[in-house]
Amino acid sequence: MLKGRHLIDPMDFSPEEIDEILQLSDEIIKNPRLYADVCKGYILATLFFEPSTRTRLSFEAAMLRLGGSVTGFSSADASSAVKGESVADTVKTISNYADICAMRHPKEGAPKIAAMYSDIPVINGGDGGHHHPTQTLTDLLTIRSLKGRLSNFTVGFCGDLKFGRTVHSLIKALSRYENIKFVLVSPEELRVPDYIKDEVLTKKRIDFVEVDKLEEIMPALDILYMTRVQKERFFNEEDYIRLKDSFILDLNKLENAKDDMIIMHPLPRVNEISMEVDSDRRAAYFKQTKYGMYVRMGLIMKLLGVEI
Ligand code: CP
Repeated sequence: MLKGRHLIDPMDFSPEEIDEILQLSDEIIKNPRLYADVCKGYILATLFFEPSTRTRLSFEAAMLRLGGSVTGFSSADASSAVKGESVADTVKTISNYADICAMRHPKEGAPKIAAMYSDIPVINGGDGGHHHPTQTLTDLLTIRSLKGRLSNFTVGFCGDLKFGRTVHSLIKALSRYENIKFVLVSPEELRVPDYIKDEVLTKKRIDFVEVDKLEEIMPALDILYMTRVQKERFFNEEDYIRLKDSFILDLNKLENAKDDMIIMHPLPRVNEISMEVDSDRRAAYFKQTKYGMYVRMGLIMKLLGVEI
C-alpha cells in the first residue's frame, strides 16, 4: 500500500511497489486523457531550496496533467528559510496548505527530517550529494520502456560518481534486479563513495569494476549513464576546473558501442556529451525527461491513493 507514504530513499519502496508505479505510468502513457481529472481538488507543493529545471517542472506538469493544482517556491531565497525558518516548521505549515509535497534541499537528510514533521507525503527531489529517488524511478521507467526489462545488464556509470546523487540512487535500485554488472568510470577523486561500495555492491556480491577510461569498456555496455561533474558540491574551484572535462562522449567514442546500447543522462549536461550525439539513435536522455513526467504522475496518484 503506497497511499500516504513518503519517498526519501530509493529503497523505501519494494521492487513490487516500484513495479506498481511503473505499470501505472505505462498505462498513463498509453491513455493520458483517462487520467486528466483524477487529481482534481488536490494540491502539490514544490519546496525547492536548490535550483531545478526537470524535477520541479516535471512534478508540476505531472500534477497539472492529472487535473490537480500546484503551489510552492523555487529557491530558498523565495521562502522564509531566508529568515531562518527550519525545514520542520516549513513542512508543518505546508501540510496545512497542500496534500503532497516534493522537496529539494542542498543538505543531505533534509527531506527525511521534513517527513518526520509532515502530515502529508514528502517526496525527496534530491538532497545534496545523497539521493534522488524520483530520478531513479525516471531511469527505471526509461530502461524498462526502451530495453523491455530491468535485469541482465552491464551498466556503465561515467563522470562524477562521488557527488552524483542520481548514480548512488540508481546503483542501489538496480542492485535488486538479477544479473546486473556495473562498470564505474571516473577519475580517482570522483569514485563511488565507500558506503555505496561496502553496503550495496560488496554486501550483495554485485559484479563491479572501477576504471578511468571509457573507450576500452564501451563494447561491454548495454546502458551508458553519463553524469555531469557537480560543480556546486566542490570545495575549491581549481579541482572542479581540473576534473570537469574528464570525459566527453562523442561519436568517435561510440564507434565500438553495441547497436542497441542506450545512452542516459539525468541532465543538465555541460560538456560531457557532445551535441553531435543527440541525433544518434542510442541517445535516450531527452526521452528520459519525458518518462520523468509520466512516472511522477504515477507516483503522485499512488501516494495520494487516487484511482480511476
Ligand atoms: N535531473 C535533474 O534532477 O534535473 P534538474 O536538476 O533540472 O531537476
